Amino acid sequence: MAADLTAHDVLNIADLRRLAAQRLPRVVFDYIDGGAEDEVTLRANTRIFDEVALRPRGAVAIAECDLGTTVLGTRLALPFILAPVGSTRLFWPRGEVVAARAADSAGTAYTLSTLAGSGIEEVREASRGPLWYQLYLVGGRDVARQAIARVRAAGYSALLITIDTAVAGLRERDLRNGIKELLGGGPLQKLRSSSQFLVRPQWLYRFLRDGGLMRFPNVVLADGPMRYVDVGPALERSVVSWEDLGWIREMWDGPIVVKGVLAAEDARRAIAVGADAIVVSNHGGRQLDGVAATLRVLPEIVAAVDGRIEVLMDSGIRRGSDVVKALCLGAKAVLVGRAYAYGLAAGGERGVERAIDILRSDIVRTLKLLGCAATADLDRTFVDVPGDWGTAGGARGPVG
Ligand code: FNR
Repeated sequence: MAADLTAHDVLNIADLRRLAAQRLPRVVFDYIDGGAEDEVTLRANTRIFDEVALRPRGAVAIAECDLGTTVLGTRLALPFILAPVGSTRLFWPRGEVVAARAADSAGTAYTLSTLAGSGIEEVREASRGPLWYQLYLVGGRDVARQAIARVRAAGYSALLITIDTAVAGLRERDLRNGIKELLGGGPLQKLRSSSQFLVRPQWLYRFLRDGGLMRFPNVVLADGPMRYVDVGPALERSVVSWEDLGWIREMWDGPIVVKGVLAAEDARRAIAVGADAIVVSNHGGRQLDGVAATLRVLPEIVAAVDGRIEVLMDSGIRRGSDVVKALCLGAKAVLVGRAYAYGLAAGGERGVERAIDILRSDIVRTLKLLGCAATADLDRTFVDVPGDWGTAGGARGPVG
C-alpha cells in the first residue's frame, strides 16, 4: 500500500498524522493522538518549541552534517531514538517488529514497550541495531524478573523504567470512543462501538489477518500472556517505586534509563539509585495533565544533573528543529513517540522510514542554516530562550 508517502503532500509529521487519521479507526487514532483530561500538557508540549528562537551564524559552508551521537556507550547515527509505544500492533500488523526494523536501517535505537503486541525475542530477531526494553512492573516482580531474563538473553542493550504511570491517565477520547465497551463489554455493547472499524476495511482486514486483538507476550502470568482488558487494573497494582529501582539495579548490570523525570529532585534520586540516564518526559501529555512542557524543565534538570549521567528528553517532538532546540538546551538525544507512530499507521515500515527521514532531513537543513556542522556542536549559543527561563529553572531559582 501507499506509494504516496513521498508525495508532495507528505512533507512533515503533521501530514503523516493526517494520513493516520484517515486510515485508522477512530478509537485507535485517538489512542495515539490523545492526551490526558483537557490535553493542556499535550498542547503545551508542541507549543513550547515556538518560544525558543534559533540564533544562526551566517556565511558558514557545510558540505556534510554529522548527526551522530553516543548514548549509553552506543554510537547512533541520529540524535533521536524511537520511544516505547504500547499496543503498536494495533496500528499495523506486527507493528513493533516493523518499527524496530526501520530504526535499525536508520542506525538508531528502538525501545520495546512492556505493553507491546510482539515478543522480546521476535523483535530482536528483526533488528541488528540497539534495542532498549521499557519495563512496567505489571504482574509483579516475578513477572518482571522473567522479562528481564528474556531481555538479557536476547541481548537488549538497556532497560528503561517509566516512573510516571502510577495509574493510567484519564484519556477522555478513549472513553468516549467506547474503549471500555470494546475491550470488556458484552456482545451488544461491543457491536455498538464497532461501526468505527467497518468504515476502515483495509485496517480491519490487516488487523484480522494479524490475529485480531493481541495479548501481551512480554507479560506472562500464571495463565499465560496478559489479556488486553486487564492492563488498566494491572498498572494500578504495580506502581514502580524507588525501592523497585534499587531491586532492578541489582538484577540488571547493563545501563538503566529512568523515564518520566520532571523535577531536579527526581533526577538526583535517579542518580542515587544508579541510573545511567534519565528521560525528561511527561509521557507525551498522556499522564498528569497540567504538568510543564518538558522543554521548559529541561534546563533545570540538565543543571541539576551537571554531567553525572546522560539526559534525554521527549514529548512534543514533531520537527527536526525541535530536536535541535532540545539538544541546544542540553539533551544528549531525544525520544520520539507519536512522530513515528503516525508514520507506522500511515504506511507500516515505509511510514516509519518516512517519519525518520523527515526528521533527519529537517535536522540537516536546520544545522546548515544555523551554520553548525554537527549536532554534537550545538549549545546554548544557538538559541534564545524567554528571559524568565534562566539557566536553572527560571523562577524556581538555582538548583544544585
Ligand atoms: C506512549 N508512551 C509510552 N511510554 C512508556 O513508557 N510505555 C508505554 O507503553 C507507552 N505507550 C505509549 C503509547 C502511545 C500511543 C503514545 C503516543 C505514547 C509514551 C512515549 O514513550 C513517549 O514518552 C511520548 O510518546 C513522547 O511524546 P510524543 O513524542 O508522542 O509527543
